[in-house]
Amino acid sequence: MLLIHNIRKLYTMRPIGRDPLGCIENAALIVGDDGLILYAGSQSTLPQQKGFSSSIDAKRALVLPGFIDCHTHLVFAGSRADEFAARARGATYQEIMQKGGGIKSTVRATREASVQDLVASTLPRLAQSARLGITTMEIKTGYGLALEHELKMLDAMKTLRVRQQIELEATFLGAHTIPKEWEGRSDEYVDLIVTEMLPAVSAQGVATACDVFVERGAFNVAQAREIYAKAKSLGLKCHVHAEQLSHFGGAALAAEIGALSASHLEYATDDDIERLARANVVAAILPVAQEYLNLKPVHARRFIDKGLDVAVATDFNPGSAMCNDLHLAARLAITRGGLTCEEAALSITANAAKALGRHDIGALATGLQGDLCLLECASLEDFFYDWTHNPVVTAIKKGKMVVC
Ligand code: NIG
Ligand code: FE
Repeated sequence: MLLIHNIRKLYTMRPIGRDPLGCIENAALIVGDDGLILYAGSQSTLPQQKGFSSSIDAKRALVLPGFIDCHTHLVFAGSRADEFAARARGATYQEIMQKGGGIKSTVRATREASVQDLVASTLPRLAQSARLGITTMEIKTGYGLALEHELKMLDAMKTLRVRQQIELEATFLGAHTIPKEWEGRSDEYVDLIVTEMLPAVSAQGVATACDVFVERGAFNVAQAREIYAKAKSLGLKCHVHAEQLSHFGGAALAAEIGALSASHLEYATDDDIERLARANVVAAILPVAQEYLNLKPVHARRFIDKGLDVAVATDFNPGSAMCNDLHLAARLAITRGGLTCEEAALSITANAAKALGRHDIGALATGLQGDLCLLECASLEDFFYDWTHNPVVTAIKKGKMVVC
């Protein structure tokens, strides 16, 4: 059993009265040996319990739920620094993609990599995220685009699950782009995804969700609908890459199929937002990718005003967001997207958990998983205000200190 005491402010992320973050001052928290929270509340009403195997003096730190990066493409091989430099000279992401670069370039490198190569290159990225207090991360495939290589990426994630402490949610993104060998035959590639890839991915048992890049030059709505129907029949959860580079129908589809999340949404219309809100789909905003590609930032405030839950993620990937900094993503969601500090805090905790269909993380209450982080700063506002240093001093996963 783990006791954490002397907490300046415990942000439970469960509303208390008019406080949406349910902040408790002078608090303590107990995590049981099963990794679940036994107590999260005021230190003055701490149950008199003995037999703690460890105890942490928070020294007046803030405690938040462990951060959740709910949209990443963290496993890949190779580098696309050349594309970054080309964009700096005026090329666009789409032009690079049309010339055979972009996602296809990472696919070439990833196909050449072994499981061990992918594990070795991903481990340091995960260690960096752990230092930022991230205790759960979603990672998509999508750089294999052939069954063997998609399974290989998932195998790497399976190994990564036991080699480090961040909990990994694996998503199959076989419909990321049309691979070279299927160019001009996208319907046939979709058939392959539906009849061969999805059943094999489901049988392998690593991925728990499916995603499709719904975009001009990638997959259209009808193709995506077919893929999601199969994915759902296999019990996979659904996420959608929607309206990133043009308005193409991904958001309406996400609402139609009851996806957990729709990501990007740069080109989402008011009608899209209303549909997503009615269907209770979480809008996952990716402000780092917007900056990285110099796209118009999404005014996420508009989504919240229409009743959508907004999550923020890094979208870490070698092309449009070579950056793992979830703190930065949340801060940009404030400055560029119009979120309040409270909304930004929810976007990387409770709302990110909801985007992953997880009810046991993203908040701190009895019975939930003991995932949390200690921040050495005076207040939540300070955390978002000070962009110069990382205040996370300790991260805890299921009641165990994260070593990184
Ligand atoms: O979310 N939009 C599609 N996929 C990624 C980019 C992947 C890449 O460029 O390698 C994204 O931005
Ligand atoms: Fe993405």
